[in-house]
Amino acid sequence: MNKLLDWPEPIVRVQSLSDSGTPLIPERYVKPPLERPSINSTASMDVNIPVIDLVGLYGDDHALRAAILDQISIACREWGFFQVINHGVSPQLMDRAREAWRQFFHSPMEVKQAYANTPKTYEGYGSRLGVEKGAILDWSDYYFLHYLPSTLKDCSKWPTIPADCREVLDEYGKQLVKLCGRLMKILSINLGLGEERLQNAFGGENIGACLRVNFYPKCPQPDLALGLSSHSDPGGITLLLPDNHVPGLQVRKDENWITVKPAPHAFIVNIGDQIQVLSNATYKSVEHRVIVNSSKERVSLAFFYNPKSDIPIEPLKELLAPDRPPLYPAMTFDEYRLFIRMRGPSGKSQVESLKSPR
Ligand code: OGA
Ligand code: NI
Repeated sequence: MNKLLDWPEPIVRVQSLSDSGTPLIPERYVKPPLERPSINSTASMDVNIPVIDLVGLYGDDHALRAAILDQISIACREWGFFQVINHGVSPQLMDRAREAWRQFFHSPMEVKQAYANTPKTYEGYGSRLGVEKGAILDWSDYYFLHYLPSTLKDCSKWPTIPADCREVLDEYGKQLVKLCGRLMKILSINLGLGEERLQNAFGGENIGACLRVNFYPKCPQPDLALGLSSHSDPGGITLLLPDNHVPGLQVRKDENWITVKPAPHAFIVNIGDQIQVLSNATYKSVEHRVIVNSSKERVSLAFFYNPKSDIPIEPLKELLAPDRPPLYPAMTFDEYRLFIRMRGPSGKSQVESLKSPR
């Protein structure tokens, strides 16, 4: 039976719920007490994920370059998350892309509905992740589209509002693929491998790249709901362009949830499950979630850089030793991704469930 043909229940746009002005959120959005935002949210104002300046990466100062590689190595091991500044992507393009999406989400509902998605490919305008009937839902709408492989790129599924949307998105995709390629080399070197090793394990040129734009409307009862439930990203590397006005992303650090404070024109980089598997858990994909608030909506662009979807991904042989056996069996990203597409975001249950018995 193919459960991924259609949604199990009629889709309700969270933006419409929010716009209706209801003071109470429907029960379907109320999280069980232990998952609510107040639990273990850190009170400390001065913790943040590392902010790393990439400006010296390609200059002549070898000591500076080594120091940047080191900072990235530590961030990957200790946080699974960091921000990069002076990353080479045009700040104007970042702002333009974010504003284009803000405009799209503020266009009339009929316009957005024309792009309504189904769980078959998830492309287009959506309001839930996962197809379990009766599931508790997140307080967000989103838009999902593919850049790579080029066989999956279908611009007719991209919005035409605002008028330059497709053009802006195309350039945004190109620049982010490039930045991810650079980061892949750094991660590969930092793992003690040749700089192309990780990219080759991803399938070389034939990688996947897609974008999920998240729209978190104002929520009248933000203490009861989450904009996006705790999850780790299933793919390779994620580059998140957060809202420039409203915080909301929280990253798990031990038992606490740290609220990320974005630096101006930074990208938030995080390690996905496929790099956890390839690195045999030297690098971990870390759980994160999004909180909402009652006074401001929030927009974010999550760009996912993924392995070619039909090749086996397994711990790299060079990283194994008698006392470091492979922790995960081989699996393709197509097989892996089905899990989140069926069950929706659910912490780190998937990559953990893969662990080979020891
Ligand atoms: C995601 C994600 C965080 C955010 O889309 O996978 O974690 O701040 N988004 O929207
Ligand atoms: Ni995520």
